[in-house]
Amino acid sequence: MLSVSDLTVRYGDVLALENLSFSVGAGQIIGLVGSNGAGKSTTLAAISGLVKSRTGAITLDGRDLMALAAHDIVGLGLVHVPEGRRLFPFMTVLENLELGAFGSAARNRRAEQLDYVFSLLPKLAERRQQLAVTLSGGEQQMVAIGRGLMSCPRLLMLDEPTLGLAPMLVEEIFRLVRAIRDNGIPVLIVEQQVVHALECADYAYVLESGHCVMQGHGRDLLQDDGLRRAYLGL
Ligand SMILES: Nc1ncnc2c1ncn2[C@@H]1O[C@H](COP(=O)(O)OP(=O)(O)OP(=O)(O)O)[C@@H](O)[C@H]1O
Ligand SMILES: [Mg+2]
Repeated sequence: MLSVSDLTVRYGDVLALENLSFSVGAGQIIGLVGSNGAGKSTTLAAISGLVKSRTGAITLDGRDLMALAAHDIVGLGLVHVPEGRRLFPFMTVLENLELGAFGSAARNRRAEQLDYVFSLLPKLAERRQQLAVTLSGGEQQMVAIGRGLMSCPRLLMLDEPTLGLAPMLVEEIFRLVRAIRDNGIPVLIVEQQVVHALECADYAYVLESGHCVMQGHGRDLLQDDGLRRAYLGL
């Protein structure tokens, strides 16, 4: 589906990402893990067209994304839920969700997509008239993901969805990610929660200072001594 090859991103003199190659196939959760500044968010921003100072090739089902504007990339179904929740605090849960359905295709399917989001996230259905500012951090993250789903993604990219959440909520977010994959939407997930992300991911890439230093099946990487020392302090 999504194929990224030799992706390099520069911010002025800063080389944020160098020659990163990976792909996301149908039915997969792909993890990108690494510590602060490794280039994880940059990777997602480059794919979704938010960062233009990039070279390499990015295709979705064979279609070149490099020349497209960010809104056209969303229109093709590549949906990016950025770091931080970026909700409209004084709008309701329902209004925030509906903002996700802005493309013409998504607008036409708004009612059915809303039913789908509420079936996946019943807590949000109960709170649909509540202002976003009054939700807990975990609930806000669910709205952010729900809003991404309202855009009718063919592939969903999540940037650190568990940031700042308590362990129980972290589990809940990863359950949600699996459910989204099992419902037919592949997920590219960026995480600093290395253990959870690797347990969840079908395949994962470890980034360090803009380079991929390791890749493999999530559970295999978790067995790797080097990785355990570097990221898990074991
Ligand atoms: N807009 C920008 N201008 C200049 N440099 C940037 C910009 N955005 C990111 N960088 C730099 O690019 C590198 C990669 O940053 P990026 O945000 O992709 O890391 P990350 O892996 O997402 O980190 P974190 O886990 O902290 O979110 C860092 O060195 C960062 O300082
Ligand atoms: Mg980041």
